[in-house]
This record gives sequence, C-alpha cells and structure tokens, in this order.
Amino acid sequence: MSFGVKFEVPERLRWWVEARFGMFIHWGLYAIPARGEWVMFFERIPKSEYAKLARRFNPRRFDADEWVTLAKEAGMRYMVLTTRHHDGFCLWDSQVSDFTSVKATPAKRDFIAEYVEACRRAGMRIGFYYSLLDWRWPEYWDGPAKNPEGWARLRDYVHAQVRELMTNYGKIDILWYDGAWPYKAEDWQSERLNAMVRSLQPNIIINNRSGLPEDFETPEQHIRYHERPWESCMTIDESWWGYHAGDRHLKSTLEIVRLLVRCVAGNGNLLLNVGPRADGSIPEAYKRRLRAVGEWLKRNGESIYGAGAAPFRAAHLGHVTAKGNKVYVHVFYWPGKSEICIAGIKNRVTGARMLAADKTLPSEQREDRLFIKGLPKRPPDPIDTVIALELEGEPETTPPSFWTK
Ligand code: GLC
Repeated sequence: MSFGVKFEVPERLRWWVEARFGMFIHWGLYAIPARGEWVMFFERIPKSEYAKLARRFNPRRFDADEWVTLAKEAGMRYMVLTTRHHDGFCLWDSQVSDFTSVKATPAKRDFIAEYVEACRRAGMRIGFYYSLLDWRWPEYWDGPAKNPEGWARLRDYVHAQVRELMTNYGKIDILWYDGAWPYKAEDWQSERLNAMVRSLQPNIIINNRSGLPEDFETPEQHIRYHERPWESCMTIDESWWGYHAGDRHLKSTLEIVRLLVRCVAGNGNLLLNVGPRADGSIPEAYKRRLRAVGEWLKRNGESIYGAGAAPFRAAHLGHVTAKGNKVYVHVFYWPGKSEICIAGIKNRVTGARMLAADKTLPSEQREDRLFIKGLPKRPPDPIDTVIALELEGEPETTPPSFWTK
C-alpha cells in the first residue's frame, strides 16, 4: 500500500496506518500527587516514600469498559496504556517485582488484565506502553559501564517483564517502548528482546524507542513528517501525560481535529493522551472534547481513516488528504466567498461534495486550476469543512506553470 508521499507499508502495519487515531493513557501512582508522571524525579522523592503511595491506590471509579467506550466515541481505533512508567509501578501482576497493583495496593487488581478484556469486548486494538528505565533501580543510574553485573540484573528484569506482558494477555497489537535513554539498544539488548517479542506476538507493531527503528517513528508533542510510518503522541492538556491537577489548558475540539488532519496529511497517526485521575475517572472536560471529535469524525471520517497524503497542497485553505480516487480538502480557513481555487490537480475532477452538509458543489477546471463554486458565506463546519473531490484515477499533480505564461 502506498500514499501520495510514497512509502510502502508492510502488511502487519496496514490496520494501524488505516486507523490513524488512537488513545494514549498514562495512569499510575503519580496520579495521586497529581503533579504529572515525573513527580518522583523532579521532587526527588525517595523510593521508600514514593512506595507508600501504593497503599493509597484504590481506584474505585476505574472501569476499563468506560475508558474503551470513550475512545470509541472519540473515533479512536486503538489504545495504548502505560503498563509501567519510569517510577517502576506495575499495573499488572508481575512476578519479578513486588511493586505492583496486585501486591502493593489495597485494590489487589490486575488493571492490565481488565483493560485487555475491555478492549477485546469492544473490538478495540490493544497497545502496551512499557518503560525500559526504572528510576527505582540504582543500577539504572550507575549504567552498564560502571556496574556491568547490576546492569545485567536490570536488563534481565526488563526482559522478564516484557515476556510476561507478551505471554499472559493473549494477542497484543502494539508494544510502545519508552525510556531507553541515555543507554543504547546494545545495552538493553533490544535486538534480542524484540526478537523474543515477535516470536511470542508475530503480528505485533513495535515503536522506535527501544533504541532500534522497528516499525514506526514517535515524534512527541509535535508533528513531524517522516518517510516511514510515524505517529505523533500529544497530550490533551498542555504538557503532562500523567494526571496533573494544575495543567488546565486543554486543547479544544477544533485543535484536536486539526492536529489529526495535519498528521494524516503527512501519512501519520495521532496518539492523543489523557491522564485519568487516581480513582480511575476521566475528567468531564476531556470527555466532552473527545466526544465532539468523535462527532466530527462521524461526518468526516472517510477523509481520515485509511487516508494519507495528497500529491498537491492547498495551504491557503488548510490541508489535503487523499484516499483512492478521492482527495479531501480540509478548509480550516474559510474564505467567505462563494468560490475557492485549488491548483495543481492533473486529473479530471468529476465531482465535488461538502461532507458536513452532504451537499454537491459545482466546479470548473481551467487547466491546472480547479474552481469550486456555490459556497456559503459561513463555514458549514467551523472546526474543519471537508470538500471531497472525485477524480479520474489516483491523484496526480502538475508542476507549477503560471510563470511560463
Ligand atoms: C517521555 C516522557 C514520558 C511520557 C512519554 C510519552 O518520554 O518521559 O513521561 O510517557 O514521553 O511519549
């Protein structure tokens, strides 16, 4: 399969590339202090003191089905949950650590199991985030050069945990590593680790954060186009992944939709993060936005799912995505005139339609300039009005010609 910007996608990645939109969830003990998932590090909380948070972790409002339902309502097609973040706390019943939700908390629950089951019930694709680094290990701070034996123990622990995650929960769709830094793939023996992962989960997709490129790139908190599969991960609020009571500047529905469109217009995915509260609940303000994104996707989903880059641009209006013989002009900046012009389409255009209003529009092609007519003064969808163009054949472009005339 290939899109406007040409790169081939291996078969196992096909569903993921078509899905385009996923939910990232950062959830763990750090939700209790509610100052983000790096609180242990930045406040230099001693290990023994941080461990006490576990005794207070009893998330009565945790309901995996609710999380999955919300993701569905938002139009998301996969989820990625932190199984263990840098603080070392495991949301599953790991046999190689006592610092787990099953052993160390009054909840005594395997939240990963509950999450996996809820995803399966809903037909949601399942992703696991896993941090290689664990701040609680002095061996991590020493590093492999200073303490090779200690390092080998840490590495064995990491390999054992990944093996558990890849063995105990049936088919897993995505393994989303993090935290290899400042060490290298050789230090973690990532090649061996990922070979084990793939032998246990033959169709799994692995991100690029074990120090090896594997299946996809992961630009963080920004969008950057790559010539291979990529996914931008971004927080719904300003900067924190784990719940932060003070991080209150939420992205609006409009911002989220436009981020998603910009990703798809560059052949990428968007993994949008929410950090539930310590009790397992997701703040209402997040839910409202996510559901509104889902409403937009209900009307305009064909321009996102399975779509990718188009060979020509319309930056004066917004962005363009393409799928098969169609291109989708995402008008972010509604001109307020009855006519707009899109240039550089080589194909004959056989139809134009506004998705939001399901309204056909007259159009006229003069050489490499297309004029779409009969537009209302105000944008029918202020978030992003999508105009679908039907082309003869797969979209092709012509080089700019106006200065030769
Ligand atoms: C960073 C942060 C981390 C977050 C992740 C998400 O690596 O350390 O807190 O989980 O990015 O991409």
